[in-house]
Amino acid sequence: YSLLNHNTFGIDAKCNRFIEYSSIDEAQKVSVIISNDNLPFLIIGSGSNLLLKADYKGNVVHSDIHGIETSCVNGEYLLRCGSGEVFDDVVAYCVEHGYYGAENLSLIPGEVGASAIQNIGAYGAEAKDIIAKIEAVEIATGNVVEFDNSDCGYKYRQSKFKNEWKDKYLMTYVTYKLDRTFKPKLDYGNIRAKLAERNIPEPSAEELRDIIIEIRNAKLPDPKVTGNAGSFFMNPIVGVDKFMKLNAEYPNMPYYEVSKTSYKIPAGWMIEQCGWKGKRLGNAGVHDKQALVLINCGGATGQDIIKLCDTIRHDVFDKFGIEINPEVNIR
Ligand code: EPU
Repeated sequence: YSLLNHNTFGIDAKCNRFIEYSSIDEAQKVSVIISNDNLPFLIIGSGSNLLLKADYKGNVVHSDIHGIETSCVNGEYLLRCGSGEVFDDVVAYCVEHGYYGAENLSLIPGEVGASAIQNIGAYGAEAKDIIAKIEAVEIATGNVVEFDNSDCGYKYRQSKFKNEWKDKYLMTYVTYKLDRTFKPKLDYGNIRAKLAERNIPEPSAEELRDIIIEIRNAKLPDPKVTGNAGSFFMNPIVGVDKFMKLNAEYPNMPYYEVSKTSYKIPAGWMIEQCGWKGKRLGNAGVHDKQALVLINCGGATGQDIIKLCDTIRHDVFDKFGIEINPEVNIR
């Protein structure tokens, strides 16, 4: 079975079997199948954060659970969404129906299930800010389980589902908690500048969503045209001593203060400083508008991308003494 249409990098890799579930009941059946099979399994969403190194010798599992249900419980506005819904469709639904808090997450690729695993984030917002509850099936037992936000160990691009709970659950539903009052988050990067350009200092939720979409489209390649998986690396977090040294050496270096003792340094900036922006190595390349994004220049294999990834990591370490790690799930 070809995975070409299931990964946005556009890698033509195959798997032994592709299995979908479209209800909790089916997820339970799938959990039995993959637990009893001798082959390994890989759970994917829309494959927008996935790099396939080679053919996948095992079962690939995908949620096809759909639906968005709204409710109001104890004054909280909840949206229970099937794990196979496109995440941006949920954001669009929220904006259209007056559920606020998701606008800054507009146009992030991927599906609802992955939003809760990855803690996707952009423009000063993260999925964890709006996740209330997760429903899943435990693969080993077939049991239906539920988690609250606080169970999941959320941090920047991290959760227990990516670490100690990796491959333990099939996601079925994610319930997001939204606001009925619009409290725009405009402080990240160039949001305010863009709004000022348009003469809309006090945007509606629709206008904020439109600006976010515009900013993203200007920087990030459309995977339908150029294969990519968004940010390829995570932004490294360094201690205060390392930060002070770098800051003295590179006064123009952008950074975000994570806490009084730790700072996040944009990997895209470091990659650009190493001269990689817009460059290529074989059929793999670095996007010319955002160096954090690696691209398939056409016909790249997983190995081509890995080679570029390793070369960049090496160069960044050489120049800055910082290790950068892939954000993309490499399988
Ligand atoms: N920068 C450069 N050169 C580059 C890229 C960035 O100098 O080639 C500088 C920018 O000028 C800016 C800073 O680095 O000062 C940060 O850049 P940007 O705002 O574009 O964000 P990022 O840190 O590179 C992160 C997320 C993105 C998300 C943006 C906006 C990660 C790994 N990536 O990128 O998420 O859209 O912030 O919030 O945290 C994704 O995960 O796929 C993704 C696109």
